[in-house]
Amino acid sequence: MSYADAIESGIYKYIWSMPFEDHLASHKLRILRAAPAGTPDTLSVGCGDGGAEAALVGKLQITCQDTHDLAKRLHPELTFVEKIPDKKFDYIVAIGAVLTSVPTEEQDAFLEKLFSHLKPGGTLLLGLGYYSFPLEGDVREYRFENKTVLETYHNVTDYSFDVTTKVLGLGECTLRYYPCDVKAKLAKFAGPFRILH
Ligand SMILES: C[S@@+](CC[C@H](N)C(=O)[O-])C[C@H]1O[C@@H](n2cnc3c(N)ncnc32)[C@H](O)[C@@H]1O
Repeated sequence: MSYADAIESGIYKYIWSMPFEDHLASHKLRILRAAPAGTPDTLSVGCGDGGAEAALVGKLQITCQDTHDLAKRLHPELTFVEKIPDKKFDYIVAIGAVLTSVPTEEQDAFLEKLFSHLKPGGTLLLGLGYYSFPLEGDVREYRFENKTVLETYHNVTDYSFDVTTKVLGLGECTLRYYPCDVKAKLAKFAGPFRILH
């Protein structure tokens, strides 16, 4: 099942390891915490259902993008684009396992694209979402000197995994996450970084 199907069926609300309202509140906080000062021109890539972004309208100047348009359908007040516009942003957000939803061999191009739309000194907030799942692997948080922020994650580099969520009355969905050696990948694009424990 695709993300769009999971959202439309209602199962998406249950894929998180916490009540959906808490997920939205946590996303909202995390996006605000890493945001540059003022009202930054912000792009949320892989915005999903757009719930967190809708709650941030007015606080950030936010444009949402995804490969499906469920966010626009659920939150018509959002500025939604099918393709990333030909401009640079102060702040780009891709959280909730967006990068790890992209097949490994496409992740470099995906990251390259994100960085190409970031203004010099801009902030990229990248969250992989693995922290929700009881998986083996490193759990660390990386914070880049050039303001690229990578949230806590499990560094799964060698296998894909499927996460199945079954909801009585709604059915089930299986979503695939791809391996990503994010530390190595980001080293290509970003400057030196510190590890925060
Ligand atoms: C786990 S969902 C996260 C959604 C939202 N950010 C959240 O945390 O609630 C991952 C999202 O990434 C989107 N996605 C996957 N590949 C993408 C790509 N190449 N470009 C943009 N979005 C993508 C999926 O369609 C899905 O909506």
